[in-house]
Amino acid sequence: MSTQDRSRWDAAYADREPASEAGLPVVFAAHESAFPAAGRALDLACGQGSAAVWLARRGLDVLGVDVSGVAVERARALANTAGVADNCRFEVADLDDGLPPGPPVDVLLCHRFRDPRRYPAMSERLRPGGLLAICVLSEVGGSPGPFRAVAGELSDAFAELVTVAAGEGDGQAWLLARRL
Ligand SMILES: C[S@@+](CC[C@H](N)C(=O)[O-])C[C@H]1O[C@@H](n2cnc3c(N)ncnc32)[C@H](O)[C@@H]1O
Repeated sequence: MSTQDRSRWDAAYADREPASEAGLPVVFAAHESAFPAAGRALDLACGQGSAAVWLARRGLDVLGVDVSGVAVERARALANTAGVADNCRFEVADLDDGLPPGPPVDVLLCHRFRDPRRYPAMSERLRPGGLLAICVLSEVGGSPGPFRAVAGELSDAFAELVTVAAGEGDGQAWLLARRL
């Protein structure tokens, strides 16, 4: 990512209130029970860390990464406040360079960040039984655009996983799926 784009994300976060609560993204909230309570989790483009901290409180050992240093600092502060700093780490990383190195994970979360180049690596990063939770902007029920998924993009990209639940419409597409 260019320095300019990174600065834009930093400025956007600096303009927002810090996240004050841990929580799964709304789209996954009805499926909380599908998330394991132990193991490793990776949150890609974690923003201010609400979901990562929720996973850590649930009992997972979490790494969250984001290109914005401002977001990462806030995510660390949220983890400290929630008392999970020991099992919830955050790093600045540019996913344009690929996924951060690391062991297979039990949960891979990616909410509102879309880079189809990373779909194969996301799938490969799941250990057997591991859960993918991904939500992206979609052209389905929304306006067409270069940052939006085309119809069927997630189900096609992750066809080798077993779908737990999925949705597409109102401008977003999401998928919860497990590696066999
Ligand atoms: C719409 S926000 C979603 C944040 C968070 N997942 C959430 O649901 O609140 C998109 C996030 O992607 C991050 N991002 C954008 N491009 C990135 C890249 N190339 N590498 C890592 N993070 C990136 C931004 O900094 C921002 O935090």
